[in-house]
Amino acid sequence: MKRILFVCLGNICRSPSAEGVLRVMAAQRGIALEVDSAGTAAYHEGEPPDKRSIRAAAARGYALADMRARQVVVNDFEAFDLIFAMDQQNYSHLMQMCPAQLKHKIVLFLGKYGQSDVSDVPDPYYGAGDGFERVLDLLESACERFLADINECCR
Ligand code: 4NP
Repeated sequence: MKRILFVCLGNICRSPSAEGVLRVMAAQRGIALEVDSAGTAAYHEGEPPDKRSIRAAAARGYALADMRARQVVVNDFEAFDLIFAMDQQNYSHLMQMCPAQLKHKIVLFLGKYGQSDVSDVPDPYYGAGDGFERVLDLLESACERFLADINECCR
């Protein structure tokens, strides 16, 4: 079974949303994955996801409320097979933390699985309310592509 870690800054908006989306979409397709998420910062350690993320995700059938934020630890680079960064800042931070021989596990999620014009999942935390819908739209589309890509290996 492949182990996937999504990483954003606070681990309360984008990466828990990605965790919830991928878990459901993989299960729907009969693909066995272990999915987790973490933040590069510890600001929200131990907290549930942002209420706006929980609400937007619930409306699409993704359950985030029981998740709790945690910070990335160096052991994550060993423990997971793929580490998906939500934006380029998260990607740079992860690359700085990661032992050289494990850096190949770190991937800019939309850089590989997004549409060509967008490589970052925009941080919705301080923005207008529709940012949370945009995050889910981008994540669903990229998860679809990722699952099509790994379809062969994990059934
Ligand atoms: P996330 O969003 O990285 O998608 O979880 C953020 C949440 C909190 C903060 C920044 C981004 N913050 O600065 O507290």
